[in-house]
Amino acid sequence: MHSNTHPTFLCPAFKSRVVPVIVITDLAQAVPMAHALLAGGIDVMEITLRHSAGLGAIEAVAKHVPAMHVGAGTVTHAAEMARVQSAGASFALSPGMSDALVQAALDCRLPFMPGVMTPSEVMCARDHGFSLVKLFPAAQAGGLAMLKALGGPLADMRFCPTGGITVDNLADYLKLGNVAMVGGSWLTPTDAVQQGRWDEVTRLASQAMALSA
Ligand code: 3PG
Repeated sequence: MHSNTHPTFLCPAFKSRVVPVIVITDLAQAVPMAHALLAGGIDVMEITLRHSAGLGAIEAVAKHVPAMHVGAGTVTHAAEMARVQSAGASFALSPGMSDALVQAALDCRLPFMPGVMTPSEVMCARDHGFSLVKLFPAAQAGGLAMLKALGGPLADMRFCPTGGITVDNLADYLKLGNVAMVGGSWLTPTDAVQQGRWDEVTRLASQAMALSA
């Protein structure tokens, strides 16, 4: 991961520039999914809090798969910051940013990537000390053209676009100088996960790693 100046962003050095955004609906999926992604070369997971199994899934991966850097996604309430940290998340992401969330991350000293969608929000994040932010939802925000436009006046900021990234466009995003990494849900398709087809997850991870090399 690229360096970040924010005092809370002492982010673990995962090497993947593709961050799977994951909704786990059954705790038993967590550890095999982590192994499947690792087998394909992806050493980071954003496990979201969108399902009640999310927190336990973070805990299971943090405990049983030490090679995986597990982060918590969809952190939208300040009180969740301490909970995901206790579960073992080594960083947190949010679709947006609020003063309360930033303060909670500082209080926990948990590395945090806030979400932004407009130039003003990027500037607000920078005022808070962040130099790496999540552009969400990336496609709806303008995708590649939006990132190129932000790179003019806000050239010191780095982005993790998420939302609408696919195997067909991830390489175009990663070519941009202000894109540190991309996030997306395509690596863990619901049907493959529910059917335990972990070889498919490994295949998608390997494909993404090859395209991001
Ligand atoms: C989400 O909202 O689930 C994430 O941003 C991932 O978006 P995607 O499904 O378009 O990859």
